[in-house]
Amino acid sequence: MKALVLSGGSGTRLRPITHTSAKQLVPVANKPVLFYGLESLAEAGITEVGIVVGDTAAEIEEAVGDGSKFGLDVTYIPQERPLGLAHAVLIARDFLGDDDFVMYLGDNFVVGGIRPLVEEFRAHRPDAQILLTHVADPRAFGVAELDASGQVVALEEKPEHPKSDLALVGVYLFTPAVHEAVRAVKPSWRGELEITHAIQYLIDTGADVRSTLIGGYWKDTGNVGDMLEVNRTVLERLERRIDGEVDDATETVGRVVIEEGAKITNSRIVGPALIGAGTVVADSYVGPYTSIAENCRITDSEVEFSIVLRDSSITGVGRIESSLIGRHTEVTPAAGVPSAHRLVLGDHSKVQIRS
Ligand code: DAU
Repeated sequence: MKALVLSGGSGTRLRPITHTSAKQLVPVANKPVLFYGLESLAEAGITEVGIVVGDTAAEIEEAVGDGSKFGLDVTYIPQERPLGLAHAVLIARDFLGDDDFVMYLGDNFVVGGIRPLVEEFRAHRPDAQILLTHVADPRAFGVAELDASGQVVALEEKPEHPKSDLALVGVYLFTPAVHEAVRAVKPSWRGELEITHAIQYLIDTGADVRSTLIGGYWKDTGNVGDMLEVNRTVLERLERRIDGEVDDATETVGRVVIEEGAKITNSRIVGPALIGAGTVVADSYVGPYTSIAENCRITDSEVEFSIVLRDSSITGVGRIESSLIGRHTEVTPAAGVPSAHRLVLGDHSKVQIRS
């Protein structure tokens, strides 16, 4: 069995934190979301992986390399333009051959991995197997309609009036039967060859399409609340490890990871919390469910339930909570203007300040 991982896509869908990089590399607990997918494929016993790449190919290739650090053998499949998920299957035909495969969308996160699902598929080998999950707003997803016996009868891509709250998760298991289906579909209203339509074609032509309901699912929708929540879920599983330097005036409580090269002085770190390599924390408090990435500087501040991306600094600003701080960002007090806020914010930023 092979895997096809989709890490292409164009700039038009970029979210606040991914203006400058691929959305599949958005970090969850200091690790790109794509890496969790690759690890879960390796864990499911899959080694041959094709990664579909687009505009951000260089960045993805630099991060993943030849796949050997994941125990995978990675082949890159360039996609000229993001013409749809079914288009990605079309262009991967040579790589896929006549093997069964998992199609994994690189911006999706399945808590607990996919090993049991791959095992289930291998045991029964239906023509296709899809994963579904309950979501609050199904209009942003492919949506499934089931009959009374739980059989999938219809799928709709991003419907205005969803017939259920069951969203298609971005992990699909296919036999080679999907190749005829991706050749049969026509571009949708958004100009893409939809995998949702290809699966509908399989259903309409009498193929065996099964579904499995899962919990613990996240994808990057640009919603900061969701991102903090998935970060929290992953940090819940953290095991204490102190590889960096921690001085005697510092207290670390519970499941705290201090990566090698990090330096903590005169501070209090309460887990679950993750401090990345090369980061300096001085005279500060870092509270539960916080990930601070590499080469940051937290001085004379308090940070809790937040994500701080790499190369950023927070200095002398009191308490920061429920926040997402991007890369190369500086947060400092405004000198000489005691009750004013001075802001330099990128497009689509959201800031909540004391009024
Ligand atoms: O995330 C689950 C959803 O993914 C499903 O519920 C939908 O049915 C499915 O169509 C898809 O919807 P999105 O509109 O959210 O997909 P998106 O365009 O964000 O692409 C998903 C991943 O595939 C992302 O990592 C980019 C990559 N991609 C996308 C397209 C359109 C490609 O590599 N090539 C492409 O042509």
